[in-house]
Amino acid sequence: MVLLSRSGVAAKGMEQEWAQLLATGARVETVACNVGDMEDLKQKLDKVLQGMPALRGLVHSAGVLEDASLANLDMGKFGSVYKGKVDGAWNLHQYTQRMELDLFVFYSSIAALLGSAGQCNYGAANAILDGIAQLRRSQGLAATSIQWGAWADVGMASRHNVASKFEIMGMAVGDSKKALQQLSACLTTKHPVVSIVSLKPTAAAAALPVLRPLLTNLLASEEPISGEAQIDWTPVVVECAKAATGVEIVDVQQPLMDAGMDSVSAIDFRNLLQSKVGRLQLSSTLVFDHPSVEAIVEHIKTSLQGLAPVQPVYQAVQ
Ligand SMILES: NC(=O)c1ccc[n+]([C@@H]2O[C@H](COP(=O)([O-])OP(=O)(O)OC[C@H]3O[C@@H](n4cnc5c(N)ncnc54)[C@H](OP(=O)(O)O)[C@@H]3O)[C@@H](O)[C@H]2O)c1
Repeated sequence: MVLLSRSGVAAKGMEQEWAQLLATGARVETVACNVGDMEDLKQKLDKVLQGMPALRGLVHSAGVLEDASLANLDMGKFGSVYKGKVDGAWNLHQYTQRMELDLFVFYSSIAALLGSAGQCNYGAANAILDGIAQLRRSQGLAATSIQWGAWADVGMASRHNVASKFEIMGMAVGDSKKALQQLSACLTTKHPVVSIVSLKPTAAAAALPVLRPLLTNLLASEEPISGEAQIDWTPVVVECAKAATGVEIVDVQQPLMDAGMDSVSAIDFRNLLQSKVGRLQLSSTLVFDHPSVEAIVEHIKTSLQGLAPVQPVYQAVQ
């Protein structure tokens, strides 16, 4: 087994797994190599593979994050994310063209399928991995691209504490043990691109309307909010604003943008609130049209009064 990374050292926190791996008697080589640099890759792999059995499988999981809102993204931030992901995947694809591989796995992300606020560069880079997997399959080569959700216990998502961001999008974070079982299942699928994510149907469809048609059966089982127009929405709006910004909202008349909300957290806030108001469709410009908590509560109340009464809901059929 050959592990490539720019630093060439085993990841911190993996000492136990590392010891277990070596105890199996496997020969494991760690090599400092930037997979985004073809010269470096060729030179290092040519050398390390000499005297080893033929390479039969490859997992491409190199990646870095450079999150920024769209207005603050520049070519540098695209370039660093694309280096390991896109250039790395393409270089490995080229390098192994004449090898007979049993597997070539790409670690893509659910951000490629659903988008992710502040991660335009990362979502696009992962979508290209999915494209390379499809290209390889069309050429009769092994390829599976897995659009992972997030793992809570290890890796980049755990370091960036994305659980609340996922919750806002109606998703739950997973763990690495389960992910490894899911990886095994993915290796035998006929599909070149697979998405693995835990969804809460109502919240996910509210935050991501594009998912609604896929979730029809699950959504049919949701309970309507009873007496929705009579609910006191103030604590709900305050709670959502706090979850999106991390700031305590004390003055319900103060514009949220003055209280610490920015354009990215305004989207999170709207999505989170959307998951609470059910069938009422909130505009993506909610905070700009109705700047304060008080104004948003008033908007929700009057909009709900204008909606037709809730129709009976039928149980979902599996
Ligand atoms: N963690 C999650 O929840 C999650 C969710 C969806 C998808 N993914 C994807 O899964 C993969 C692994 O994620 P992770 O959480 O394990 O990330 P991680 O802990 O940050 O590990 C990423 C690894 O990539 C290596 N790397 C980065 N750029 C490289 C390059 N140009 N050449 C060679 N190695 C490079 C890094 O080592 P060096 O810094 O030493 O190079 C590091 O070992 C990533 O592609 C990520 O996008 C992760």
